[in-house]
Amino acid sequence: MKKMLLPILLGGVLSATAADTTITITKRYLNLPVSQQQQRAYMEYQANGGEVRRFLIRLSPDPEYWVFSDMSAYQGKKVKITYEGDGAGLRHIYQDDRIAGQDSLYHEQRRPQYHFSTRRGWINDPNGLVFHEGEYHLFYQHNPFEREWENMSWGHAVSKDLIHWEELPVALHPDKTGTMFSGSAVIDHNNTSGFGKPGQPVMVALYTADSPEKQVQCVAYSLDKGRTWAKYGNNPVIDSKAKWNSKDTRDPRVFWYQPGQHWVMVLNERDGHSIYTSANLKEWTFQSHVTGFWECPDLFELPVEGMPGQKKWVMYGASNTYMLGSFDGRTFTPESGKYYFSAGSIYAAQTFNNIPASDGRRIQIGWGRIPQRGMPFNNMMLLPTVLTLRNTKDGIRLFSVPVKEAEQLFAPAGKWTALTAGAANRHLAAFNDADRLRIRATIRLSHATDAALSLFGQRLVAYDLNFNMLNGMFYSPQNPASMELTADIYIDRSSVEVFFDGGAFSTSMERRAEPGNRDGFRFSGNNITVTSLEVFRVKSIWPGVK
Ligand code: FRU
Repeated sequence: MKKMLLPILLGGVLSATAADTTITITKRYLNLPVSQQQQRAYMEYQANGGEVRRFLIRLSPDPEYWVFSDMSAYQGKKVKITYEGDGAGLRHIYQDDRIAGQDSLYHEQRRPQYHFSTRRGWINDPNGLVFHEGEYHLFYQHNPFEREWENMSWGHAVSKDLIHWEELPVALHPDKTGTMFSGSAVIDHNNTSGFGKPGQPVMVALYTADSPEKQVQCVAYSLDKGRTWAKYGNNPVIDSKAKWNSKDTRDPRVFWYQPGQHWVMVLNERDGHSIYTSANLKEWTFQSHVTGFWECPDLFELPVEGMPGQKKWVMYGASNTYMLGSFDGRTFTPESGKYYFSAGSIYAAQTFNNIPASDGRRIQIGWGRIPQRGMPFNNMMLLPTVLTLRNTKDGIRLFSVPVKEAEQLFAPAGKWTALTAGAANRHLAAFNDADRLRIRATIRLSHATDAALSLFGQRLVAYDLNFNMLNGMFYSPQNPASMELTADIYIDRSSVEVFFDGGAFSTSMERRAEPGNRDGFRFSGNNITVTSLEVFRVKSIWPGVK
């Protein structure tokens, strides 16, 4: 691309190949003007003795929106900023203790109000979900510099209740081994890794470094509750491209295997998930491989509700499909599957490590592949859910429901029983314009045909009892003769999540009204009855939002 070399106000120097400027960092943030209309080009931060950061950005003198870098790591240092693209945007970069757009932060038109989304830029997979000393840590695949996927880094947020999140600086930045792809985090209580001091728990992250050549597994650790991170000097710890003759070796999911007193890593390699074991999180031994999975593994054991003493291991892939089986610390042996329990926009879900035994829940967060159109941030996390195994008519199956902590958000706004579709629609008309709402409804069908609830023409619930299809997936209720369906619906501006029949199946979608449709909420079907209908207003999780 054509390089434009322009004079720079911030005391910059021009070289033949790139434009640059040097700034002494005295404020928390560098605010950077960007536009999707510009080409991507590399920018680099260099400080004397400090870390080098290199990333792609669409810098523009005519910004569509602003992104930022948290410069905490560079305070008081002279940072040379080099840009290999059109340097005209460089002169507009400024430092401040506030990010550009701080005043409207979380008030933006399409900002999810009770789901996590990032201040600026792109997010995908949740990473490193771990509970530690009263905090739930949510790391995530993040491009801080654009609303689209690039520059994979680990963003970071913490919460005390899984509902209200505070965003922290990026935890893992791209480095010479590559960009920071998905992975997990553990608490090394006994300092098996040697990264900490005896008696001091260490947070250790295992992640994939992705480069054009290959994907390798690496380790980083934090001695201050995830606030700052150091990368292990002998990375990578696994380099298995040659063995698999494939570049696809990624997304380490690590946990402590209590019975064997060792660490387990589940790693997606080419055509399935491999198991590795380790005593110290640094040296890993390959143990076994199960084919039939793609990306973002998870593996955990759950008791089977209704079958005292029974437990099963759940092996999981990025699409939310799973196999049930047994696991001896080295090999997962499938017994059944693959099944699904959640569909729609969910992808790359992960469950938390280190949840206290007194709690014991298996808590999951999934990426909601839901765009926030025209916003300086993009995509979101779905509501945290609790996973359980239940003994059903089809065998043992996973169920998911939102965590109980979500209850604090909901204020009852109406409750009715035994309604015709028309009467239910009249009650819901008062809520047609709500941008966040929870609706719990039980629909009784009079014919084995179809039943639906739509919002401005978009079907939130679409049930076809003749074909046993529910929102596009095969679904047969626990009582197959049942003519009833219960839907728990969570609307949050750009997104909708629906949990059916106590979490037997759930789905999520972008909320998109049919252009020109004025219907609002509409129950429909062949003479359905809405046997129960409850509506809740939903509080925002962001301070100051009404
Ligand atoms: C899944 C995924 C992972 C990878 C990451 C990169 O969405 O493709 O396999 O680590 O995203 O952002």
